[in-house]
Amino acid sequence: MPATVLIGLGWGDEGKGRIIDYLAPQHDLVVRFNGGPNAGHTVKVNDRVFKFHLLPSGMLYPDKVCVIANGVVLDVDTMRRELEEVRGAQERHAQLFVSDRCHLILPFHKILDLVEEKARGKRRLGTTGQGIGPVFADKISRKGIRVGDLFHPGTLKEKLENLLQEKNKLLTLVFGENPLDFYEVYEKLLEDGEFLRPFVTDTLLLLQKAYRDGKSILLEGAQGALLDHELGTYPFVTSTSPMAGMVSLGSGLGPHQVDRIIGVVKAYATRVGTGPFPTELVEGIGQYLRDRGGEYGTTTGRPRRCGWFDVPAIKYVIYPNSPDELVITKLDVLSGLEELKICVGYHLEGKEFPGLPAAFEEFEKLEPVYETLPGWKEDISRARRLRDLPREAIGYIKFLEQALEVPISLVSVGPSREQMIEI
Ligand code: IMP
Repeated sequence: MPATVLIGLGWGDEGKGRIIDYLAPQHDLVVRFNGGPNAGHTVKVNDRVFKFHLLPSGMLYPDKVCVIANGVVLDVDTMRRELEEVRGAQERHAQLFVSDRCHLILPFHKILDLVEEKARGKRRLGTTGQGIGPVFADKISRKGIRVGDLFHPGTLKEKLENLLQEKNKLLTLVFGENPLDFYEVYEKLLEDGEFLRPFVTDTLLLLQKAYRDGKSILLEGAQGALLDHELGTYPFVTSTSPMAGMVSLGSGLGPHQVDRIIGVVKAYATRVGTGPFPTELVEGIGQYLRDRGGEYGTTTGRPRRCGWFDVPAIKYVIYPNSPDELVITKLDVLSGLEELKICVGYHLEGKEFPGLPAAFEEFEKLEPVYETLPGWKEDISRARRLRDLPREAIGYIKFLEQALEVPISLVSVGPSREQMIEI
């Protein structure tokens, strides 16, 4: 049975949550394998909107198994809040499992995220403030505290003592902040352990068993490939990989066990936080897209920067993700514009520039080359088949499909479950 991975190919916020919600009925398990509470996946059911930061977007389906696998960093308070919201809305919901290997976001990670960001001044990254950079730094430097540690109070105490000693020095001596009290953090962790206990398991084994039992697995990527710290717009990136290849590391399913990769892109470009954005539209049409698309961050509420679709940027991350198919979201937001531009290449200092630059300074000088397509006036939110769309909207989809060289299988024309066109 297939394991399908769905990832974003932009700078996040591609509408992955609602596509997961749409695809979930065809799968038995929905699995988060990367990111943490910096993600914000919106799912609209009837008139109710759910914003999941940590829970997999399949949580609202009672017959599903949802998994937060080892690649995710966990903020226990966020998980608790989201679970309460789901339980309050629906008596029956998916069964949830959490990996014993998930690293925990601790109070100093969040504080450090904020003070480090402040210290960057005009070079700030525009992080979500969820402690992502600091928790992954501890993970990679082998100091992190994992869910499984919560059930070994002696080791936990020792690890936390060492870690907190270092972090308190950093907080007080470098950043002039107050130190954190060891016992407050430690006791809260023991409490968190009791809350997590019923959900915790070795999710690698759980997923391998499900795979061998012929269950169908949907892997829900967080963030977008252009925020990847290897191949994205470094350093304006996140600290965990949003790439399809992260599935093996973040869940324990092997590369050969994934047989379908779906890339999600928005019909225009958005970015939240700082960093290069070659096709950005600062006012006018940028504001039009922000208003019509409700482009405000799910996690932070910040207005998202908006711009024209950027083929070379998306193509650059299509290569290493090798999607079998693409989903285009929010096509309806483009209605009402006289003409639409699509960036088809870049020039740098008068010469064609292939790929994406590595240096921020080159990004600053990059000039997008645009192709102009006719827009459409009609409201397309009721379209359910390709032929319901105006000719110009079909032309826009076909243009993207040709330029990106990957078939488009699904187009969304609104936030509700049924506002979808299968192609
Ligand atoms: P961090 O992941 O909070 O460290 O933020 C690093 C960068 O990634 C910032 O520019 C954030 O705005 C961006 N980012 C992180 N998560 C998301 C997301 O889920 N959607 C969009 N942007 C994100």
